[in-house]
Amino acid sequence: MKKMRSINKCLKKSTVLVIILILYSFSMMGLIVYEIESFEKIYIKLRNYFSIINDVVAGRKQFDVLLEPMKEFDYDYQEYENLLSSHKTDTSYKKSLLAEIRNFANFLRNYERDKLLEHDKIIRISYLSLIIGSAIIIMFLIILNNRVKKYIKKVVKKIGDISDNMYISEVPVDKAVFEEDVMINNSIHNINLVQSIYDIFKHLPINTAIEDFTFTVGSYLCNLFNSQRFSVAFIDWETENVIAEVAHILIPNIVPRLNAGFTQKLFDSSLGEMVRENRLTRIINDLEERYNLTQSESTKLILEEGFKSNLTALATINSRPFGFFFLSSEKKGNYTERDAKLFASISGVLSYRLYYSLTIQKLLSYFANSLVNLVEFKDNETGNHIKRVSMYAKIIAEELNLSPKLVREIYEFAPLHDIGKVGIPDAILLKPGKLDPEEWEIMKTHVTNGVKIIEQFQKDARSIMEPQSLVVMKNIIAEHHERWDGKGYPDGKKGEEISIEGRIVALADVFDALTTKRPYKDAFPFEKAVEMIIQERGTHFDPNVVDAFLKKIVDIRMVYENLKD
Ligand SMILES: [Fe+2]
Ligand SMILES: [Fe+2]
Repeated sequence: MKKMRSINKCLKKSTVLVIILILYSFSMMGLIVYEIESFEKIYIKLRNYFSIINDVVAGRKQFDVLLEPMKEFDYDYQEYENLLSSHKTDTSYKKSLLAEIRNFANFLRNYERDKLLEHDKIIRISYLSLIIGSAIIIMFLIILNNRVKKYIKKVVKKIGDISDNMYISEVPVDKAVFEEDVMINNSIHNINLVQSIYDIFKHLPINTAIEDFTFTVGSYLCNLFNSQRFSVAFIDWETENVIAEVAHILIPNIVPRLNAGFTQKLFDSSLGEMVRENRLTRIINDLEERYNLTQSESTKLILEEGFKSNLTALATINSRPFGFFFLSSEKKGNYTERDAKLFASISGVLSYRLYYSLTIQKLLSYFANSLVNLVEFKDNETGNHIKRVSMYAKIIAEELNLSPKLVREIYEFAPLHDIGKVGIPDAILLKPGKLDPEEWEIMKTHVTNGVKIIEQFQKDARSIMEPQSLVVMKNIIAEHHERWDGKGYPDGKKGEEISIEGRIVALADVFDALTTKRPYKDAFPFEKAVEMIIQERGTHFDPNVVDAFLKKIVDIRMVYENLKD
């Protein structure tokens, strides 16, 4: 491939060429002047000698004055010298001398002609090379000048394109001619990248759970930064803790070690430094080396997952940090300063979406808590009952390998299963002893009451959150009295017609009712209650849910013991 030059280098080169051209012209002109001058000298000298020869021939000067010029011009003067030294006086002697002088004069004439031709040739060649050399250099300069001009025109057009398109669509990237083009093309790439980030926002639903956010954004960012793990963590400013959210990992079969809920003190880690110094990004290009230095628990866990380098960005809202974005790679030294800059600007925009999701998620959770508190005012049986049902449901959901989002929603929304009880008259709700059939029918309406409350909320809040966000909550309320065999209420749904969250909460709720004292019954011992659950495997309860419950019976027992009434 042809080596690319920078425009700066080209301009430097043209300056050097101009200097060479000037020096070359001067030297050629010097050479011409020198040649003319040196020929002039010879010419004057020869004229002088011709006049001496004339004087000698005319007898105005002695014959021997010609010896010196003969020697000077390397003329064969031996014969002439011999004639002179013979001191003869006859006319033949004089004739011989004059013949020698004529020869010498001819010699000088030839010499003059040769010299003239020689100098003339050099001068012609000098002129010619001056013209050819200058022409080549000037041509070169014109080509260079045109290229630079074209390039500048192109750059101006490119800048125009960028300002015209950067907020609308992708800016086209053309082939680089100069090194500066590479720089401009890189900037265009960055602009296009940010542009496509905006595009993913368009595709993100208005209310996205944190887990959906991590998944959607993570897939994209991992691809962009050649990474295999993306996660977020939030700062709890009350406790100054950093709490990890679930990670999106691209490599199959990796056992996640740094799980959702992992907590560490903010200012015990270098994340604290980022916050204190308001540093937007942090690159750790060798996690192993970092672990040897800091012995940080989170670094250890992420190393155990098989990651070698990490890029972190601060999540801020109105300049106030509230969390972090993390990218990790299986390769050491995966991240450059350029990556960090780009990640910082992307994170700046992503922060707002993340904060929105976090706010909606929190709001939903506060809303759920308020509803639960409302029921607690009326119904004494709640309190620890809802906490235990939540815990049991979470344990079963995890054992069934449900998605982290579903596990969280089951845990958060299970307490709501009986909110419809706010509409049940106290005489029935708080009646000691068994309900008669009519009262029992009224009692059953707590399910449809609950569903109505949620549906109204769903309708009212539809401008700020997708109805989808409340599906798990609604299913738990609507289906916690349905049975696997279809003999439940209110709809008599059967088998997998009932959502998994409905099937799980149904078991958790019954199991807790069995193990606690109610106005109309005593508490069954733990083992007896477990036995009753097993008896209803495949009739009242989903066999898979029963199996998961039994597999985790040690954990279930722990909750039962710790949260006893
Ligand atoms: Fe209920
Ligand atoms: Fe209940």
